[in-house]
Amino acid sequence: MERIPEPELMIDLAQAKAYSEADFESRHSKIIKLIDRSFNTADISGDILDLGCGPGDVTFRLARRFLSADITAIDGSPAMISQAQARLLREQTFTNRMYFIQALIPGLAIPNKPYQLIVSTSFLHHLHQPEVLWQTVIKYSTPGTKVFIADLCRPASKRAARQMVQQHASGEPDVLQQDFYHSLLAAFTAEEVEKQLLAAGLSNLTVELDDYLLIYGEI
Ligand SMILES: C[S@@+](CC[C@H](N)C(=O)[O-])C[C@H]1O[C@@H](n2cnc3c(N)ncnc32)[C@H](O)[C@@H]1O
Repeated sequence: MERIPEPELMIDLAQAKAYSEADFESRHSKIIKLIDRSFNTADISGDILDLGCGPGDVTFRLARRFLSADITAIDGSPAMISQAQARLLREQTFTNRMYFIQALIPGLAIPNKPYQLIVSTSFLHHLHQPEVLWQTVIKYSTPGTKVFIADLCRPASKRAARQMVQQHASGEPDVLQQDFYHSLLAAFTAEEVEKQLLAAGLSNLTVELDDYLLIYGEI
């Protein structure tokens, strides 16, 4: 099946709210386990960058996992960033080490720090020009930076996509089911990602198909 791109930014308020209220416990706790499985994470105590953070559920999990790290999280959608900031105010726990910034990727608003870990989850499939993610990874990494990207993998047909929605999201609100379906159609295949990495000079990163399409390694 050909890829069918979806709008890049999730700017709709209802969509951002539904996404923020969804139960991602099993999917997002797995992300943290996969990061721990992919690297020696004992040395992560500096800066972490989360690209396309949405309302920040993965970002908060990173803050809980890496208690000495500062986390900068970027999203271009004002609705998503305000959900993330509202949660930060509500929880009051990590206010001195989590920074949510509304900015388009690529853009100049990302602080230039020596990031130890760059994370991005469910973001790549939003990009109309996927090379933007790889250029951003290169720009904000230094030798030794750990990179961990997790995204959906495009199924073979619309029928298979509908089945996946039924299997994984039948209990979710309609807006989330629709969102999941369109995201599956917009996702890349492992072969497409391998070509993107080759073109970007990042072919040392590992591409692996788990429940997620994973791309990880050290720069
Ligand atoms: C599906 S959400 C993923 C959120 C979060 N990472 C997660 O795993 O739950 C994708 C996010 O990427 C953001 N986004 C898409 N294109 C972007 C761009 N070019 N610059 C910044 N943010 C972007 C959208 O606004 C949306 O909030």
